[in-house]
Amino acid sequence: MYGMINRAVKDLVLQDHGQEVWTRVCTEAGLESDEFGSMEQYPDETTYSLVGACSRILGASAEEILIAFGRHWITYTSRSGYGELLTATGSSLGECLANLDQLHTRISLGMPHLNPPSFRVEEDGEGGLLLHYISDREGLAPLVIGLVEGLAERFEERVEIIHDEGRTRAQDHDVFRIEKVA
Ligand code: HEM
Repeated sequence: MYGMINRAVKDLVLQDHGQEVWTRVCTEAGLESDEFGSMEQYPDETTYSLVGACSRILGASAEEILIAFGRHWITYTSRSGYGELLTATGSSLGECLANLDQLHTRISLGMPHLNPPSFRVEEDGEGGLLLHYISDREGLAPLVIGLVEGLAERFEERVEIIHDEGRTRAQDHDVFRIEKVA
């Protein structure tokens, strides 16, 4: 994945836990350098190792780390030159979720090797939404939960996100139910 992802993980750990913890995370992850070029590509394993190391050093589950990272990604990208793009993607959570593929397509103009996920939104009949998440990568469903939580916060909407269906042999992607909270 593009280094911007690893930079954002570093930003989150430094912000919440400081330099000493970040140094321990890097050692635990077996990283030779903690400098990542935003526009350079790194093996996905580097990002997965960082998440695993954060989990062990901070005593939180990988799912909790991914959720926290998803929330952080929304504010990190907003202040890293992508705020306008996010704003143009939609003016509500539903609109933004419906346009995520378009968002990543626009990002890939500057990041030609981007391998983004794909999302599809469906109304669930009771005012809620079903979010379909299709990715070549494994294990990132909790990241989507954090991302949707971060977006909801950005739009000051209160929602509950339920991981309805995970990947199984019969179903090749994850589905989330998003319900408005009064
Ligand atoms: C302007 C804001 C955003 C930027 C700059 C951005 C950029 C990126 C980049 C660089 C990657 C790594 C993929 C690669 O290098 O191949 C990525 C992955 C991903 N993005 Fe975005 N993204 C943004 C917003 C969002 C939002 C709002 C969501 C969902 C609510 C989202 C969902 C994901 C997910 C789930 C992945 C993990 C990769 C996968 O599932 O295969 N992104 N994005």
